[in-house]
Amino acid sequence: MKKSGKESEEDLQKQSLLFRQIWKSQKWWQNIIDAIKDYLFVLDNKCRILRTNKAFANLFGKEPADIIGTPYYELYGMKEPHEWCVVPNDKNQFGPGSVERKINDSIYLISYFPIFHEKNDAVVYIMKDVTETRRLKDQIYHMDKLSSLGTLTSGVAHEINNPLTGIIGYTEMLLMKDHDDTSKKYLKGVYDSAIRCKKIVENMLTFSRQKPPHRSPENINDVIDTTIELHEYWLKSNNIEIIRNYQEVPYMDLDRQQMQQVILNLIINAEHAISGSGRRGTIEFKTGYDKNTRTMIITVSDNGIGIPQEILPKIFDPFFTTKPVNVGTGLGLSIAHGIITEQGGTIEARSEQGKGTSFIITLSKTE
Ligand SMILES: Nc1ncnc2c1ncn2[C@@H]1O[C@H](COP(=O)(O)OP(=O)(O)OP(=O)(O)O)[C@@H](O)[C@H]1O
Ligand SMILES: [Mg+2]
Repeated sequence: MKKSGKESEEDLQKQSLLFRQIWKSQKWWQNIIDAIKDYLFVLDNKCRILRTNKAFANLFGKEPADIIGTPYYELYGMKEPHEWCVVPNDKNQFGPGSVERKINDSIYLISYFPIFHEKNDAVVYIMKDVTETRRLKDQIYHMDKLSSLGTLTSGVAHEINNPLTGIIGYTEMLLMKDHDDTSKKYLKGVYDSAIRCKKIVENMLTFSRQKPPHRSPENINDVIDTTIELHEYWLKSNNIEIIRNYQEVPYMDLDRQQMQQVILNLIINAEHAISGSGRRGTIEFKTGYDKNTRTMIITVSDNGIGIPQEILPKIFDPFFTTKPVNVGTGLGLSIAHGIITEQGGTIEARSEQGKGTSFIITLSKTE
């Protein structure tokens, strides 16, 4: 039946009202997904973007409308989807899930939720940047490991200290008596090994830090200078050049001895790294103070062999060493880490294999 002009006008009005309502509702949903700060996108079975929020589009310097229909992996400059990308091909084997992956320099928790709807199957993806959470989790794990190991090592170190003092004392007494050359050589061997054990025990005790820090106002440039002086003989005999790149810094409440120990551990490590590189060595000390954040930054850089990326996360672990048994105990950096974190600061390493390493320490001025 043919509709009258009035009726079809009414239909048109209804239709336009309906369109407006749909448009409004779409806009409403877009606003809602744009309000989500995690990266949200919906993919079809060819990994093309059906919907996305502002946060995800902005990640590539675009707006949501610009990337609809684009295979998402092209935005990452790839020809194929990532291995974690699942598409709705097999309904029976496919449910919601999540994976954690590193993309570029950030770690993401990627959750996916398949939607099976007639022929319009799709998968909703939500990517959450968990880089910072992961870093804090690792830090807590590290601190936890350090504190339980600290309790254990201090007990063991104390137990070993007494018999060791006996061994050293008696060997010293024996060495003062007359012996044939072979016996003397053997006794000297016992003595040297016992002294080395003593050094390890001392390191373990420092590591577990029985003594509370004793803080007083110190100038970090001065602390570094005296530490360099203490070690000057070794630096000179290894022909290592010291570069001082100091800025004027305010006095800060620090435990001078502990800070010297941190700097000394870094210097000794740098020396080892330089001696392995075959180059003329330089160690650069840089200090600075950021007035806005009230943070002191100390950087110690060397041009030694560098640290391979795969061992970089382990270097602050207690007893982690790449040095031969009679050279390293693997405690130097964990002691440094303990001292700095107790002070409320941070210490981290950046390194390029074959080029050198920098240790960056930050300390906040409290008062
Ligand atoms: N400046 C550096 N250059 C290259 N590698 C380094 C540097 N500093 C530390 N490392 C690496 O980190 C490891 C751990 O250092 P750490 O100071 O904790 O122990 P160590 O030097 O091996 O032994 P210890 O300090 O107890 O005598 C080292 O064995 C080395 O592989
Ligand atoms: Mg060391």
